[in-house]
Amino acid sequence: MSKPVVLIAEELSPATIEALGPDFEIRHVDGASRSDLLPALADVDAILVRSATQVDAEALEAAKNLKIVARAGVGLDNVDVPAATRAGVMVVNAPTSNIISAAELTLAHILASARNIGAGNTSLKAGEWKRSKFTGTELYEKTLGIVGLGRIGALVAARAAAFDMKVVAYDPYISSARAAQMGVQLLSLDEVLSESDFITVHMPKTPETIGLIGEEAFNKVKPTVRIINVARGGIVDEVALANALADGRVGGAGIDVFETEPTTESPLFDFDSVVVTPHLGASTEEAQEKAGVAVARSVRLALSGELVPDA
Ligand code: NAD
Ligand code: MLT
Repeated sequence: MSKPVVLIAEELSPATIEALGPDFEIRHVDGASRSDLLPALADVDAILVRSATQVDAEALEAAKNLKIVARAGVGLDNVDVPAATRAGVMVVNAPTSNIISAAELTLAHILASARNIGAGNTSLKAGEWKRSKFTGTELYEKTLGIVGLGRIGALVAARAAAFDMKVVAYDPYISSARAAQMGVQLLSLDEVLSESDFITVHMPKTPETIGLIGEEAFNKVKPTVRIINVARGGIVDEVALANALADGRVGGAGIDVFETEPTTESPLFDFDSVVVTPHLGASTEEAQEKAGVAVARSVRLALSGELVPDA
């Protein structure tokens, strides 16, 4: 009897394949290439993706045998979940697999921005020894504004507290009491914007959050504010941020995610005060192993007709 087919559409950890075991035929495809992806979907039972593969209505339509879409990570914005549900296809993710890694990268961006690490690195390697040019700012007693106080936002809050930062947040879906338990003061978005020295976003990309940190927001912030986005491209409007940096309404930024990915171009690349990384939030050995093993387990259960528990 032929084995169920599992299509791996992005690079996943070796532990993923190990955790799938010997019961499946495993195939690989470059999920970012539509012309490769669509025909490859024809007879597969499961597809494993990260964020570069668009599992949209067209892809689901091409996958007549598909039973499960497994997202080795958190964000499901590249999967059309309602279309999958209509087609009877289960969608699973690994919601806690990479949250520590994403929180740690957020702190890395906050520190890099505070201490001009990107610009100092570039300058020294270009043969300059400048010290006063890269005078930075301490985190101590500064205000960190977290927009989206979920799993990653909470981990960032705890880590910022270790630097003796004051942490405030805007999240319309959690209570002040829950925030207070984390040592965080819940405020309105406008208050977070006007009071923060650093603003970091940690919410999903939805019609409500796209562009939330845009032109209007940049008119309400301190001119020295640093904006950090390790969530999803588009939540912070890149063009509006570039304009705000150019006319001095924003002091700097740390950006891991972009409106279009992959990309090697952005108006933000022109600024020394912006540090960019190519969507590295989950790119640690630990996170990749946890994500791969979690979704492999879900695929095994789903394809053997067993209940898939919440991860
Ligand atoms: P989560 O679901 O645990 O938390 C999201 C929080 O955002 C929730 O508390 C929710 O109430 C809040 N929220 C929703 N809409 C909001 C709005 N309009 N305004 C303010 N808050 C709002 O998610 P998480 O695991 O913390 O992930 C956060 C983001 O980080 C997601 O976009 C995820 O895709 C992204 N992420 C990126 C990387 C990376 O590699 N850069 C890695 C992991 C996760
Ligand atoms: C996620 O949502 O999990 C991250 O963006 C990381 C990834 O895509 O692997």
